[in-house]
Amino acid sequence: MEITVNPVARLQGRVRVPGDKSISHRAAMIGAIASGRTTIRGFLRADDCLSTLDCLGALGVVIEGDRDLVVIGGKGPRLREPSAPLDAGNSGTTMRLLAGILAGQPFTSEITGDESLRRRPMDRVIEPLAQMGARVEALGDGRCPPLRITGGRLRGVVYRLPVASAQVKSAVLLAGLYGDGTTTVIEPVSTRDHTERMLQLFGARLRREGERISVTPSELTGQQVEVPGDLSSAAFLLAAAAARSGSEVTIVDVGINPTRTGVLEVLAKMGAALEVGNRVERSGEPSATVAVGGRQLKGIRIDGDVVPRVIDELPVIAVIAAVAGGETVISDASELRVKESDRIGTIAAGLRALGADVTERPDGMVIRGGRLRGGRVDAAGDHRVAMAFAVAGLLADGPVTVSGAETIAISFPGFVETVQAVAGGPAVAASR
Ligand code: S3P
Repeated sequence: MEITVNPVARLQGRVRVPGDKSISHRAAMIGAIASGRTTIRGFLRADDCLSTLDCLGALGVVIEGDRDLVVIGGKGPRLREPSAPLDAGNSGTTMRLLAGILAGQPFTSEITGDESLRRRPMDRVIEPLAQMGARVEALGDGRCPPLRITGGRLRGVVYRLPVASAQVKSAVLLAGLYGDGTTTVIEPVSTRDHTERMLQLFGARLRREGERISVTPSELTGQQVEVPGDLSSAAFLLAAAAARSGSEVTIVDVGINPTRTGVLEVLAKMGAALEVGNRVERSGEPSATVAVGGRQLKGIRIDGDVVPRVIDELPVIAVIAAVAGGETVISDASELRVKESDRIGTIAAGLRALGADVTERPDGMVIRGGRLRGGRVDAAGDHRVAMAFAVAGLLADGPVTVSGAETIAISFPGFVETVQAVAGGPAVAASR
């Protein structure tokens, strides 16, 4: 599918975005290994989270529900041996977190994924799970999927993460539920802590002391979980509105977990007017109404500890940096190269094709702000790249056509309609 996005004078409105992807995955997986029923309201029914439900179904978990309600029939810690390889689709979170659970199962299973996922590094989960006693083989060139996992009773370990990755941290903590003692993970920098919060909600014995997180095998009990809107999806609308003077966009009921709000800090530093109100906490996760007012933004430096807290929003931040005043320097973000696409390469090349002045660096990029001309770009099979370029269309001098836009269904069903709602007219045209 191709979408063509036309420039708009301003964005206005009050909208809701679909449920948080990271929290939806975790609620389903932890619900599956808990005893009793778990109901999840606000579940993100997008391709990535559906991959998680499919894998859990193949592991014997009964899943019911309709629209954004999902009911998980928890099986307790032991799942059923699958009769065929599990398919994680495009979802790194599904593969890496499930690897932690599969490492604790007394059977051999295989998990694979689509072409993009089969290029992503899995040695980062293989290494700690092997230390814990599981046998994990990467069947694609030694570090890439498919993974073949022979699990069983595991050893508790103390594991210092070599990369700041919530997925790896989560895989080790989930495997720790099957350990023979305490498992401790030490993070180099704080990353999203949804697994820790969800495990605590389900009754796990989990302790956090600074960058050290410890878990001991615990009985988990099914819960009622409410999932807030996904700040990473809201980010496309917030960033577009922030960069268009005169815009006023409000997103209701969106997650503001402090390990995720780097995008709000970055937008504020670039000069956007932000307001966060109606704060509530549900199912252990904070959410709020976030409003943004558009201004002429300015270029900034983005590096260090904020990077893991804004990692998924850097593609759209790079796009608005291209229409900000002055230079934006993104560094310490080499992890972007191993996401659904090489996001440094795809964003830099696409922005240049749209007329921006961008220099790629191994761990980021330098964007000299000015104007975007418009033109044609490809999503490179990456949902966040597709949506970032759609935002470029709203802010450019001429239309932007994004090919491969069907990938948006990975995380943000209804993206086109939501953009239309705040753009106030037919800003986006889709064609096959
Ligand atoms: C995620 C963690 C991050 C993020 C991804 C979702 C998660 O990946 O980029 O979109 O739900 O745990 P890493 O753990 O590889 O940093």
